[in-house]
Amino acid sequence: MNRTILLLPGDGIGPEVVREAHRVLNWADAKYELNLYFAEANLGGVAIDRDGAAYPEATRELASEADGILLGAVGGPKWDGLPAADRPERGLLAIRSDLDLFCNLRPAMLFSDLATASSLRSELVSGLDVLIVRELAGGIYFGEPRGISVRADGVREGINTDRYSEGEIRRIGRMAFEAARKRGGRLCSVDKANILEVTMLWREVMESLSVEFSDVNLSHMYVDNAAMQLVREPKQFDVIVTSNLFGDILSDIAAMLTGSIGMLPSASLNADSCGLYEPVHGSAPDIAGVDKANPLATILSAAMLLRFSLGAANAADDIERAVSTVLAWGMRTGDIASGMPGERVLGTAAMGDAVMAALQE
Ligand code: IPM
Ligand code: MG
Repeated sequence: MNRTILLLPGDGIGPEVVREAHRVLNWADAKYELNLYFAEANLGGVAIDRDGAAYPEATRELASEADGILLGAVGGPKWDGLPAADRPERGLLAIRSDLDLFCNLRPAMLFSDLATASSLRSELVSGLDVLIVRELAGGIYFGEPRGISVRADGVREGINTDRYSEGEIRRIGRMAFEAARKRGGRLCSVDKANILEVTMLWREVMESLSVEFSDVNLSHMYVDNAAMQLVREPKQFDVIVTSNLFGDILSDIAAMLTGSIGMLPSASLNADSCGLYEPVHGSAPDIAGVDKANPLATILSAAMLLRFSLGAANAADDIERAVSTVLAWGMRTGDIASGMPGERVLGTAAMGDAVMAALQE
């Protein structure tokens, strides 16, 4: 039976990095006879230009039938002047919400050869392996009321609303407890329960779940402290579970610990494990189209797609090993080069070639 992978290259460096990940998926298809069929559609700025909407109907139809979706990135200065509701980023939020992709897994793992590329001293990060579980379909990103309006006194006011139902908290909590159970057995729930009612409820629900997961050690941390602890002593964390906005911020911090945001993959899953896979980095318009982008986060996202949506763990292992091999060979894109002897700085396509070579070893 054919399995459909939908490619959404998007904007900026998206098309370049998705191209390299597509090659790797083709390799996995041939080696493990996965019967993959690839479709491609528009999302984000490119969709606004070609179809008049950031999440066009044609993309929506293909997405609803796909077994897995690989996304590059969306957004760029070209569309910055558009009203909030019409921006490319809304296309990304729309697909997350449409497919109910509430569970965003963002693993921050340090490849040992990149310890010197981290902004922290290598002894603080060597061996780092943290999983951030970010709620992705609710919270302040989607809460109503929202908007910019003029008050009765004539003053303009901007509003967003952070709201979570018990059910929304419970389902993300459960995913995080299950992930922690399969890893180091430690879960840190990050909130701002000293101030925000929405996160008081969050903490209460996490506590109630811990009865069911008595083998997992649950702790709580305020988000400001968590941001500090991530740069102070990141190895204290195993799994972190947090809300949409806090997860957005903390995952960028965690990314930098691993050397570069160009290394971090992510998986966004719904209850059926249908998923959208994307690098944590953005569209990087400043280096778009000049063969400078790091394709490894997207290649590692493709590995997550194989593991979580296609059940092809062997192929995922091969790809993760190949990434590790090219780093051990000294291959670097500009963002992860640290000027150490033995490094070779490559462009996007050449880095893709290197991964393909490592896969064929
Ligand atoms: C991310 C990005 C998105 C987010 C933007 C592009 C809407 O920063 O995936 O982390 O905030 O979720
Ligand atoms: Mg982000």
